[in-house]
Amino acid sequence: MKNKRAEFSSTFGVIAAAAGSAVGLGNIWKFPYITGVYGGAAFLFVYLGFILAIGLPVMLSEFIIGRKSRKNAFGAFKKLAPKSLWQFVGILGVGAAFMILAFYGVVAGWSIEYMFSAAMDGFSDKSPDQLGSMFGTFIESPLKPVFFQLIFMVLTGAIVIVGIKDGIEKNVKILMPILVVIIIVLDIRAITLPGAKEGLKFLFHPDFSKLTGEGVLSALGHAFFSLSLGMGTLITYGSYIDNKNNLLRTAVQVTTADTMIAILAGVAIFPAVFAFGIEPSSGPGLVFITLPNVFQQMPGGYIFSILFFLLLTVAALTSSISILEVVVAYFHEELKMKRKVATVFATILIALLGIICSLSMGIFKDYLFFDLNFFDLMDWISANLLLPLGGLFISLFIGWKFGRKKVRAEIEKGGSISELFLSTFMFLVKIVAPIAIAIVFLSGIGLLKI
Ligand code: PHE
Repeated sequence: MKNKRAEFSSTFGVIAAAAGSAVGLGNIWKFPYITGVYGGAAFLFVYLGFILAIGLPVMLSEFIIGRKSRKNAFGAFKKLAPKSLWQFVGILGVGAAFMILAFYGVVAGWSIEYMFSAAMDGFSDKSPDQLGSMFGTFIESPLKPVFFQLIFMVLTGAIVIVGIKDGIEKNVKILMPILVVIIIVLDIRAITLPGAKEGLKFLFHPDFSKLTGEGVLSALGHAFFSLSLGMGTLITYGSYIDNKNNLLRTAVQVTTADTMIAILAGVAIFPAVFAFGIEPSSGPGLVFITLPNVFQQMPGGYIFSILFFLLLTVAALTSSISILEVVVAYFHEELKMKRKVATVFATILIALLGIICSLSMGIFKDYLFFDLNFFDLMDWISANLLLPLGGLFISLFIGWKFGRKKVRAEIEKGGSISELFLSTFMFLVKIVAPIAIAIVFLSGIGLLKI
């Protein structure tokens, strides 16, 4: 049937898809690495504050916009606020999706490569230093990382062509719990390493004097990135949610799961970072350098390491398809491309951008923009500029344009909410989120001194 939109079949399907989108490299790769760069616990606490005060309300807002409009990120605003500038929020989101998936695919490619290295017993008998240089040599080489990135992009495109619904639910139901179990096993091994205490202190004992404006902006950007917010992913997914679903409960569950997994990942990494004398601020390689050391020191480490990188790749896939879906739904519904054509076209464009990201780690590393290589530039612009801006407009839209009455009506299709909750939510999206985002944003980019 033409234009019949798919819907997730069950409540669990919705949670699985949204959690599948949220949980990914953001939790396991990016969260530990930026927490390390920005000094540890203080960053974590600010991040948690943003998740609660801004992330959760914006997530609920995206679900509301998506389900009410039953459209892609751009079409949703066009439908709910015809002939207005709001639709540009959707365009911003499509742009962010391009940039994010470009570097995301590169990191997912690293994970695939590490899965093979693990299978070939490539970590054993190597010192922390050797593991560090192994990672450095790998990401700088011009061919291998590009090859694995392309494999990942083909997988992403293929799943989106087959239809996201069928792929996700099964994956998330079985594989995500296994990933969580593996991370918990890693946690136990990490905190029982000699010298592990330092790491826990680094992660949980805040020293707020270490915080910088840029750190706070990154915490905000990462709250959006990790929850898949600010670019219409959850508007797009929300458009496939049926009316019986309790949107608030779904948002709370997804946010909780995402945050727990990030913290669990942090607990696996930082004790080990200190135990093996790795620099916490080592950057994007942190997880890839640290965990192989842990695998070496545990019984069954060989099997665990293969499984871990396999499941990390799967977690990355359930996120990458949600990013690609934003672009594909837009191309298909707004630019009237056939879905398959849209998918192939978007995948190729993003993969090309991804190749540049990958090469910017090695042969192009001297081409810097504002002191960042192309990979970091894509990451910085999308996470720290586009997603917070998107989140700002989404909360303004729900707070001031869509309004309290319609918010209540949409949420209550699938469950009742109290007056107090509604007032708190409206206050957060009308006032708190926009002001906080504006301040953090302006001071993070250096336009406001506080
Ligand atoms: N949330 C995903 C992760 O943490 C990444 C993502 C960002 C997905 C933005 C969709 C939109 O890995």
